[in-house]
This record gives sequence, structure tokens and C-alpha cells, in this order.
Amino acid sequence: MRDKIVAGNWKMNNDQSQTEALLKKLKHLDKPKEVRVMVAPAFTQLYQSTELLQGSGISVVAQNMNAADSGAYTGEISSGMLKGIGINAVILGHSERRSLFHETDEILAEKVKAALAAGMEVIFCFGEELEERKSQAHFEVVAQQLKTALFDLPASAWKQIILAYEPVWAIGTGETASPEQAQEMHAHIRKLVSENYDATLADALSILYGGSVKPNNAKEIFTGKDVDGGLIGGASLNAEDFMAIVNAF
Ligand code: PGA
Repeated sequence: MRDKIVAGNWKMNNDQSQTEALLKKLKHLDKPKEVRVMVAPAFTQLYQSTELLQGSGISVVAQNMNAADSGAYTGEISSGMLKGIGINAVILGHSERRSLFHETDEILAEKVKAALAAGMEVIFCFGEELEERKSQAHFEVVAQQLKTALFDLPASAWKQIILAYEPVWAIGTGETASPEQAQEMHAHIRKLVSENYDATLADALSILYGGSVKPNNAKEIFTGKDVDGGLIGGASLNAEDFMAIVNAF
């Protein structure tokens, strides 16, 4: 059985005291044993978050990292720096990184390789823009993103990969893919992975949906047989909403 996962991407929100308040609530809320729960606070709160969440079963994930090990990259953070404070997973390829910080699939391919080499798990985000969906190019766009960023990885690397399909038009917009649209795309993604590797590998892969997942739509979205959880933005900033989503399976 592949993992069910709900991950909260806090983006550039929550200072030290807000982080503490939110994590204290999350730590004590009930969650199903079979669901892996992750939170991705800002870099400055990562260490504090690992300390606060000790023993909770909730893991702490970074929102980004640089592909280089060290050097003249002002403002950047390496895998070694993350590992050094107990962070073993990283989100790569979020649409905000792509659009605001010009990260291409070629750049992301390097970041993914660096994270994997460091023994980290990667939540790899991708998805089409509105115009691409309107012109029916979405299946092809997603295929190209995966091909460029991931499909030259060896099969053994996929144990460390979690995919997050996030249609750009649904992120932070309040608009969400319908459960049918999500399932249709997730089935397409799993088929692509199966064709490039094999069915066993594809079957073991967790594919999350992201884009305006809220307590009132999570259950329906998660019913898709290829939808293994969610990457949650806005709703992950509120402990009750986030835990309602975790409990929506
Ligand atoms: P949202 O963000 O849930 O606020 O739409 C999702 C994401 O950016 O991962």
C-alpha cells in the first residue's frame, strides 16, 4: 500500500510565535495512524519546528533548497544545512518558485538530484496553467514537466519521491479541480510513470493533489483512487482546518 500523505505548505507565513502556537495545536490533535502528516514552515522556523514536534509523528519539510553543496550563492540553503538540523524532506518545483523565481524543470532536475543524493525525500510539484488547460494541453504539459525533471532518475530513486500535482489555476484561488479532474490527471501521471519505469514502481508512488484543498472539499478529492493525499497551502495555516483535511480520508 502506498502512503497517504497530507502536507502543509506554509509559504512565507508564520513568525516564531505563530509557528509555536500552530504547532502546539497540531501536536495534540487526533489524526489517523495511516496518514503521514508533514508541515513546511519557513527556513527560519525549521529547527524550532522539529524540536516542537518531537514525538508527534508529524514531520518537518523545507520549502526549497539549492542544488549546490556550498559556495557563493548568497541567500541560499543547501541540503547539508537542512540535514544538519534534522530536515529529511524538501518541496521542490512549487509553482510560486517556478513563476516568481524562474525555476525551470532543468534547474529543478538538478535540485532533485542533489536532494536525493543527500538522502532526502522530495515532494515534487508540477501542473499546468489555466491557458494550457483551456487549450487541452494539460496532459502534455505535465508529461513534459515529469520527463525533463524526473524521468532520467534511476528506478531506485523513486522510493524518495512524492509527486504533487498542482494545477496553477487552483493554487490560492479558491478554485479547485473537480474530484473527476484530479483523478483523471492522477491516473494519467501514474500511467506515465508506469510507462517510463514499471507498474510496481508507479503503484507504490504517492501522488498528492494541491490547489485550494479545504475541509469542505478534501473528502471528495481524496476519494479518487489515484489521489493519495494533498499539499495544502492556505488551509494549513489553521490547525482545525488542517486537521480536518488530515482526517478527511
Ligand atoms: P492553496 O495552496 O491550498 O492555498 O491553494 C496550495 C499550494 O500552493 O501548495
